[in-house]
Amino acid sequence: MARIRAAVFDAYGTLLDIHAAMAAHAARLGPDWRCISQDWRAKQMEYTWVRSLAGPAHHVPFFALTREALAVVAETHGITDRALLADVLAAYRTLSAYPEVAPTLQALRAPGIARAILSNGEPDMLADAVRAAGIETLLDDVLSVEAAGVYKPAPAVYRLATDRLGLEPAEIAFLSSNPWDAFGARAFGMRVFWVNRGGGPDEYGLRGAVAELRDLGGLLPALA
Ligand code: LAC
Repeated sequence: MARIRAAVFDAYGTLLDIHAAMAAHAARLGPDWRCISQDWRAKQMEYTWVRSLAGPAHHVPFFALTREALAVVAETHGITDRALLADVLAAYRTLSAYPEVAPTLQALRAPGIARAILSNGEPDMLADAVRAAGIETLLDDVLSVEAAGVYKPAPAVYRLATDRLGLEPAEIAFLSSNPWDAFGARAFGMRVFWVNRGGGPDEYGLRGAVAELRDLGGLLPALA
Protein backbone atom coordinates (compact mmCIF):
# COMPACT_ATOMS: atom_id res chain seq x y z
CA MET A 1 0.00 0.00 0.00
CA ALA A 2 1.34 3.45 -0.90
CA ARG A 3 2.44 5.68 1.95
CA ILE A 4 -0.14 8.35 2.75
CA ARG A 5 1.31 11.83 2.21
CA ALA A 6 -1.83 13.94 2.39
CA ALA A 7 -5.25 13.89 4.00
CA VAL A 8 -7.93 15.56 1.89
CA PHE A 9 -11.26 16.32 3.51
CA ASP A 10 -14.73 16.97 2.22
CA ALA A 11 -16.04 20.08 3.99
CA TYR A 12 -19.82 20.07 4.32
CA GLY A 13 -20.94 17.21 6.53
CA THR A 14 -17.42 15.88 7.12
CA LEU A 15 -15.66 18.78 8.85
CA LEU A 16 -18.65 21.09 9.21
CA ASP A 17 -22.01 20.29 10.74
CA ILE A 18 -24.40 21.10 7.90
CA HIS A 19 -27.42 20.88 10.19
CA ALA A 20 -26.03 23.56 12.54
CA ALA A 21 -27.59 26.34 10.42
CA MET A 22 -31.14 25.13 11.00
CA ALA A 23 -30.34 23.94 14.53
CA ALA A 24 -29.45 27.53 15.40
CA HIS A 25 -32.95 28.62 14.34
CA ALA A 26 -34.82 25.49 15.37
CA ALA A 27 -37.32 27.33 17.59
CA ARG A 28 -38.45 29.51 14.67
CA LEU A 29 -38.49 26.61 12.18
CA GLY A 30 -40.59 24.37 14.38
CA PRO A 31 -40.38 20.71 15.37
CA ASP A 32 -39.78 19.49 11.79
CA TRP A 33 -36.50 21.40 11.48
CA ARG A 34 -34.36 18.26 11.20
CA CYS A 35 -36.44 16.91 8.37
CA ILE A 36 -36.40 20.32 6.64
CA SER A 37 -32.62 20.47 7.02
CA GLN A 38 -32.25 17.00 5.49
CA ASP A 39 -34.53 17.93 2.59
CA TRP A 40 -32.46 21.09 2.06
CA ARG A 41 -29.26 19.05 1.84
CA ALA A 42 -30.82 16.53 -0.56
CA LYS A 43 -32.12 19.29 -2.86
CA GLN A 44 -28.77 21.12 -2.74
CA MET A 45 -26.95 17.95 -3.83
CA GLU A 46 -29.53 17.21 -6.54
CA TYR A 47 -28.85 20.64 -8.05
CA THR A 48 -25.09 19.98 -8.14
CA TRP A 49 -25.56 16.70 -9.99
CA VAL A 50 -28.17 17.98 -12.45
CA ARG A 51 -26.10 21.04 -13.37
CA SER A 52 -22.95 18.96 -13.76
CA LEU A 53 -24.71 16.51 -16.08
CA ALA A 54 -26.28 19.37 -18.05
CA GLY A 55 -22.79 20.67 -18.89
CA PRO A 56 -20.37 23.50 -18.12
CA ALA A 57 -22.70 26.23 -19.42
CA HIS A 58 -25.08 25.34 -16.58
CA HIS A 59 -22.60 25.51 -13.72
CA VAL A 60 -23.69 27.76 -10.86
CA PRO A 61 -21.56 28.22 -7.70
CA PHE A 62 -22.47 26.26 -4.61
CA PHE A 63 -23.78 29.07 -2.42
CA ALA A 64 -26.28 30.13 -5.09
CA LEU A 65 -27.47 26.51 -5.38
CA THR A 66 -27.72 26.35 -1.61
CA ARG A 67 -29.94 29.46 -1.67
CA GLU A 68 -32.13 28.05 -4.46
CA ALA A 69 -32.50 24.77 -2.60
CA LEU A 70 -33.50 26.57 0.58
CA ALA A 71 -36.20 28.56 -1.24
CA VAL A 72 -37.70 25.41 -2.74
CA VAL A 73 -37.61 23.44 0.49
CA ALA A 74 -39.10 26.38 2.40
CA GLU A 75 -41.99 26.55 -0.05
CA THR A 76 -42.53 22.79 0.21
CA HIS A 77 -42.67 23.03 3.99
CA GLY A 78 -44.83 26.18 4.01
CA ILE A 79 -42.17 28.47 5.49
CA THR A 80 -42.84 32.04 4.44
CA ASP A 81 -40.75 34.01 6.96
CA ARG A 82 -38.12 35.63 4.70
CA ALA A 83 -36.09 37.00 7.59
CA LEU A 84 -35.84 33.49 9.02
CA LEU A 85 -34.63 32.11 5.69
CA ALA A 86 -32.04 34.90 5.42
CA ASP A 87 -30.81 34.06 8.92
CA VAL A 88 -30.56 30.34 8.12
CA LEU A 89 -28.66 31.06 4.91
CA ALA A 90 -26.28 33.39 6.73
CA ALA A 91 -25.72 30.70 9.36
CA TYR A 92 -24.70 28.28 6.59
CA ARG A 93 -21.65 30.50 5.94
CA THR A 94 -20.40 30.01 9.51
CA LEU A 95 -21.19 26.39 10.37
CA SER A 96 -19.50 24.87 13.38
CA ALA A 97 -16.86 22.17 12.95
CA TYR A 98 -17.30 18.80 14.65
CA PRO A 99 -15.35 18.65 17.93
CA GLU A 100 -12.69 16.18 16.75
CA VAL A 101 -11.80 18.19 13.62
CA ALA A 102 -9.21 20.59 15.07
CA PRO A 103 -7.34 17.93 17.13
CA THR A 104 -7.24 15.61 14.10
CA LEU A 105 -5.88 18.29 11.78
CA GLN A 106 -3.35 19.26 14.43
CA ALA A 107 -2.21 15.67 14.92
CA LEU A 108 -1.55 15.18 11.20
CA ARG A 109 1.15 17.85 11.30
CA ALA A 110 3.79 15.87 13.22
CA PRO A 111 3.94 12.91 10.81
CA GLY A 112 4.18 15.42 7.96
CA ILE A 113 0.84 14.62 6.33
CA ALA A 114 -0.44 17.57 4.29
CA ARG A 115 -3.98 18.65 5.15
CA ALA A 116 -6.41 20.00 2.59
CA ILE A 117 -10.09 20.56 1.94
CA LEU A 118 -11.61 19.56 -1.41
CA SER A 119 -15.14 20.91 -1.53
CA ASN A 120 -18.06 21.87 -3.71
CA GLY A 121 -18.02 25.27 -1.98
CA GLU A 122 -16.62 28.23 -3.90
CA PRO A 123 -13.46 29.91 -2.54
CA ASP A 124 -15.10 32.78 -0.63
CA MET A 125 -17.67 30.47 0.93
CA LEU A 126 -14.91 28.11 2.05
CA ALA A 127 -12.84 31.02 3.37
CA ASP A 128 -15.77 32.11 5.55
CA ALA A 129 -16.31 28.52 6.69
CA VAL A 130 -12.74 27.73 7.74
CA ARG A 131 -12.42 31.10 9.49
CA ALA A 132 -15.65 30.59 11.43
CA ALA A 133 -14.66 27.03 12.32
CA GLY A 134 -11.28 28.24 13.58
CA ILE A 135 -9.29 25.80 11.42
CA GLU A 136 -7.58 28.25 9.02
CA THR A 137 -4.12 27.67 10.45
CA LEU A 138 -4.56 23.89 10.56
CA LEU A 139 -4.95 23.51 6.80
CA ASP A 140 -2.24 23.57 4.15
CA ASP A 141 -4.68 24.03 1.25
CA VAL A 142 -8.34 24.69 0.52
CA LEU A 143 -9.40 23.46 -2.92
CA SER A 144 -12.70 24.35 -4.55
CA VAL A 145 -14.47 22.60 -7.42
CA GLU A 146 -14.70 26.04 -9.03
CA ALA A 147 -11.24 25.39 -10.50
CA ALA A 148 -12.78 22.46 -12.42
CA GLY A 149 -16.18 24.05 -13.14
CA VAL A 150 -18.04 20.86 -12.25
CA TYR A 151 -19.24 19.23 -9.04
CA LYS A 152 -18.31 16.03 -7.25
CA PRO A 153 -18.14 13.19 -8.03
CA ALA A 154 -16.69 14.19 -11.45
CA PRO A 155 -13.11 12.81 -11.72
CA ALA A 156 -11.90 16.30 -12.69
CA VAL A 157 -12.64 17.40 -9.13
CA TYR A 158 -10.51 14.72 -7.45
CA ARG A 159 -7.77 15.46 -10.00
CA LEU A 160 -7.55 18.99 -8.55
CA ALA A 161 -6.11 17.41 -5.40
CA THR A 162 -3.55 15.17 -7.11
CA ASP A 163 -2.46 18.04 -9.37
CA ARG A 164 -2.14 20.57 -6.55
CA LEU A 165 -0.41 18.20 -4.14
CA GLY A 166 1.74 16.54 -6.81
CA LEU A 167 0.75 13.10 -5.52
CA GLU A 168 -0.64 9.87 -6.91
CA PRO A 169 -4.27 9.19 -5.90
CA ALA A 170 -3.16 6.23 -3.73
CA GLU A 171 -0.92 8.56 -1.68
CA ILE A 172 -3.97 10.58 -0.61
CA ALA A 173 -6.31 9.68 2.23
CA PHE A 174 -9.71 11.09 1.28
CA LEU A 175 -12.30 11.58 3.99
CA SER A 176 -15.97 12.14 3.37
CA SER A 177 -19.20 11.52 5.22
CA ASN A 178 -21.05 11.44 1.90
CA PRO A 179 -21.20 7.91 0.48
CA TRP A 180 -21.41 9.17 -3.10
CA ASP A 181 -18.30 11.35 -2.55
CA ALA A 182 -16.42 8.45 -0.96
CA PHE A 183 -17.41 6.38 -3.99
CA GLY A 184 -16.14 9.06 -6.40
CA ALA A 185 -12.77 9.37 -4.65
CA ARG A 186 -12.41 5.61 -4.51
CA ALA A 187 -13.19 5.35 -8.24
CA PHE A 188 -10.42 7.92 -8.78
CA GLY A 189 -8.00 5.70 -6.87
CA MET A 190 -7.69 7.52 -3.56
CA ARG A 191 -7.48 5.70 -0.24
CA VAL A 192 -10.89 6.47 1.15
CA PHE A 193 -12.13 6.78 4.70
CA TRP A 194 -15.91 6.92 4.82
CA VAL A 195 -16.82 8.98 7.87
CA ASN A 196 -20.15 7.35 8.56
CA ARG A 197 -21.20 9.68 11.37
CA GLY A 198 -24.83 8.63 11.34
CA GLY A 199 -24.14 4.90 11.10
CA GLY A 200 -25.96 4.80 7.76
CA PRO A 201 -26.36 1.71 5.58
CA ASP A 202 -23.83 0.58 3.01
CA GLU A 203 -24.08 2.41 -0.30
CA TYR A 204 -22.14 1.96 -3.54
CA GLY A 205 -20.50 -1.18 -2.13
CA LEU A 206 -18.33 0.95 0.15
CA ARG A 207 -18.38 -1.38 3.12
CA GLY A 208 -15.37 -3.64 2.89
CA ALA A 209 -13.96 -1.67 -0.06
CA VAL A 210 -12.96 1.40 1.96
CA ALA A 211 -12.21 2.10 5.60
CA GLU A 212 -15.21 3.17 7.65
CA LEU A 213 -14.90 5.54 10.60
CA ARG A 214 -17.48 6.82 13.07
CA ASP A 215 -15.75 10.19 13.16
CA LEU A 216 -12.38 11.70 12.27
CA GLY A 217 -10.86 10.58 15.55
CA GLY A 218 -10.27 7.16 13.98
CA LEU A 219 -8.03 8.51 11.21
CA LEU A 220 -4.67 8.67 13.00
CA PRO A 221 -4.91 5.13 14.43
CA ALA A 222 -5.98 3.85 10.99
CA LEU A 223 -2.96 5.46 9.34
CA ALA A 224 -0.46 4.31 11.96
C1 LAC B 1 -18.56 19.35 -0.12
C2 LAC B 1 -19.94 18.79 -0.01
C3 LAC B 1 -20.20 17.72 -0.96
O1 LAC B 1 -18.05 19.96 0.83
O2 LAC B 1 -20.16 18.27 1.25
O3 LAC B 1 -17.97 19.17 -1.19
